[in-house]
Amino acid sequence: MPESEQILEVQNLHLGFRIKDDYYDAVDDVSFTLNKNEILAIVGESGSGKSTLATAIMGLHDPIHSRVQGSILFDDQDLTKLNETLYNNVRGNKIGMIFQDPLSALNPLMRIAEQISESLSYHRKELSKEERRKRAIELLDQVGIPNPERVASQYPHELSGGMRQRVIIAIAIAAKPSVIIADEPTTALDVTIQAQILDLLRELQKETEAAIILITHDLGVVAETADKVGVMYAGQFVEYAPVEKIFTNPQHPYTRSLLNSIPQEDAHDSDLHVIEGVVPSLKFLPRTGCRFSARIPWIGEDEHEENPVLHEVEDKHFVRCTCYKTFRFEETDESEIQHRKEVAKELIGGDSNE
Ligand SMILES: Nc1ncnc2c1ncn2[C@@H]1O[C@H](COP(=O)(O)OP(=O)(O)O)[C@@H](O)[C@H]1O
Ligand code: SF4
Ligand SMILES: [Mg+2]
Repeated sequence: MPESEQILEVQNLHLGFRIKDDYYDAVDDVSFTLNKNEILAIVGESGSGKSTLATAIMGLHDPIHSRVQGSILFDDQDLTKLNETLYNNVRGNKIGMIFQDPLSALNPLMRIAEQISESLSYHRKELSKEERRKRAIELLDQVGIPNPERVASQYPHELSGGMRQRVIIAIAIAAKPSVIIADEPTTALDVTIQAQILDLLRELQKETEAAIILITHDLGVVAETADKVGVMYAGQFVEYAPVEKIFTNPQHPYTRSLLNSIPQEDAHDSDLHVIEGVVPSLKFLPRTGCRFSARIPWIGEDEHEENPVLHEVEDKHFVRCTCYKTFRFEETDESEIQHRKEVAKELIGGDSNE
């Protein structure tokens, strides 16, 4: 079936940043597959390695100060083995990228049409200058920009944040990529515009059949958009599952804590268990053992697994470590479980009576 056609497979991917003479993994043993038409959300707190993962897949890391291990299988080739010229052909052409901050991703001194044309000149060499401009205007129209002819002649600073993000999306889809990586594409925008941009991404995905890796820290966005989810903590996937399983049957304590932190109008949020603290910086992450154990200090040292790996706990649902079996918040109560069920119901229409 074309729907389930696999187009990207990331296997045991590591990206280590060099600090002095040593490498510290900001992406640590990440594996996933992505099918045509599928949206994979990657969710986790700031500093958990989401952008680094995107950078590694795009081959945009600095080869002098970082190193990549593992494989990224795309189009019958392992991207980690490509030289810069070949990678350039993949980047922007077959894999498009949408960044968080549209302003810094655009050239302030170039008119919008020229920026889209420039991208087309790499990937659609057969088009004349006139044809490129025409195509640029079509793309602006496709991403829902009103009066595209006029916008084509404007500079980035003349547009609103939402319009600029639409331009970035137009550039990303110009070459009809089969994978689009969107790194927090709506974080810099206000709430109503966020919703419009997400709707646009979903529409474009249907039209183009591209697969999307959507990086976000917003679980509401995940619930509305994703087919499957990788929950990332300190460079690792701690849980990886179809979206409905993440919301209706979350297992890893970190996933549950993220779900508990979704605000709900009628809940007493202060009663819910949210794990305190932040992701430690790279140099302070444990180099052996579980990277997460420092966040739940009330669990005794001998109760942790030494080197937790992902276990398949139900079909396509993977959890790192077996802590989901024994894990307890300091005190778990019924209202908390109820809260998660309500959140699941509200966000994905999941069955709250499970
Ligand atoms: N160029 C870099 N050199 C060294 N450390 C980095 C670099 N970029 C990111 N990091 C570190 O890698 C970790 C993951 O960062 P990042 O991928 O930006 O997380 P996220 O996108 O989830 O917020 C953080 O500890 C961050 O400080
Ligand atoms: S129980 Fe397992 S995953 Fe949980 S913190 Fe301990 S070692 Fe890590
Ligand atoms: Mg980031």
